Amino acid sequence: MVTIGIVGAGLRGRLFAEALASQPDVTVVGLAEPSPKVAEGARSATGLPVTSSHRELLETFDPDAVIVATPDFAHREIAVDVAEAGKHLLIEKPVATNLDDAHAIASAVRRSGVRCLVGFENRWNPHVVQAKAAMDSVGDPITASATLSNSLFVPTTMLSWAAQSSPAWFLMPHTVDLILWLTGRRPVSVSAMGSRGVLAKRGIDTWDVVHALVGFEDGSTATLSSAWTLPDAGDGIVDFRFQVVGTEGSVTADLSHQGLTVVSDKYRSAWPVAGRIGRSQVGPAVWMVQDFAAGLADGGELGPGIDDGVLVTEIICAVEESLSTGQTVRLASA
Ligand SMILES: NC(=O)c1ccc[n+]([C@@H]2O[C@H](COP(=O)([O-])OP(=O)(O)OC[C@H]3O[C@@H](n4cnc5c(N)ncnc54)[C@H](O)[C@@H]3O)[C@@H](O)[C@H]2O)c1
Repeated sequence: MVTIGIVGAGLRGRLFAEALASQPDVTVVGLAEPSPKVAEGARSATGLPVTSSHRELLETFDPDAVIVATPDFAHREIAVDVAEAGKHLLIEKPVATNLDDAHAIASAVRRSGVRCLVGFENRWNPHVVQAKAAMDSVGDPITASATLSNSLFVPTTMLSWAAQSSPAWFLMPHTVDLILWLTGRRPVSVSAMGSRGVLAKRGIDTWDVVHALVGFEDGSTATLSSAWTLPDAGDGIVDFRFQVVGTEGSVTADLSHQGLTVVSDKYRSAWPVAGRIGRSQVGPAVWMVQDFAAGLADGGELGPGIDDGVLVTEIICAVEESLSTGQTVRLASA
């Protein structure tokens, strides 16, 4: 039996608690959440105990593993404490929003020898998994592109900390990891452009749109785009598309609405592969966290680890630097 604690009882923390509730060989022992209101909601939704800090969670329940599901900028202290306590880690993407934090987490993970999965959930997305399997048939990658955007609902309503994040930090970790995984190429340079003003006028002072061009060691390229300003009207909150073009073929996916679009004043399109179907929770995030628990129980593969997470953070830091300087940034790890 594997015991797991969850830090952060927001959207993701609760989703993970629910996804693990039906999992054999796993017990979620409790959550940690500093907001009394959110903690109370989580207690009544999950029936689990909720402590007010991750340290109290560690001391009270001594779990085998901890899931870090706090806002992007609030991962370091928790992840380092968890690793130093010898607990395995599932840490949400992005590992951190600066390289210093990312390296501190990576050092703690390596020093303590704990197992670590970084929450790049698209590695459990059926379309992405099939695209990866098809990569052998497309020859050498020449170029790739990926768009992952949200409607205004996400920065204005869903996330309370959008002003401390951006489309680059919240969305691009997914597409960076996706392209690196599919192409297997080594990134060497990043240049980016973006625009701001629409969200700033609503009091959320961050980028509206970010475009990034990634150069790889072998001369191939990838373009990534993420916007936080898609219209809310009837179109779903996620737009997700990607393509890899190779010397012998291409792989293209349009998951904008996962094949289901409903337009109505009363209903917003939902993703069919998410939520509850019959007795089961489904969707990439659910399968990821269940696989994490199963991997801890059987000692098998866990998926993308801390090195993948640090590289993605390095690339998003380079996106930010290029946005502010207008220059192409050569990656230090290149
Ligand atoms: N893979 C995805 O598609 C996806 C989607 C949403 C969020 N995420 C990631 O998951 C993480 C959490 O996002 P969310 O949407 O659940 O955010 P959220 O705001 O809904 O929940 C985060 C919770 O963490 C709590 N918190 C803050 N500091 C804390 C601390 N020190 N200890 C314990 N709790 C603390 C907050 O009070 C809040 O309730 C972020 O890193 C985010 O980028 C991933």
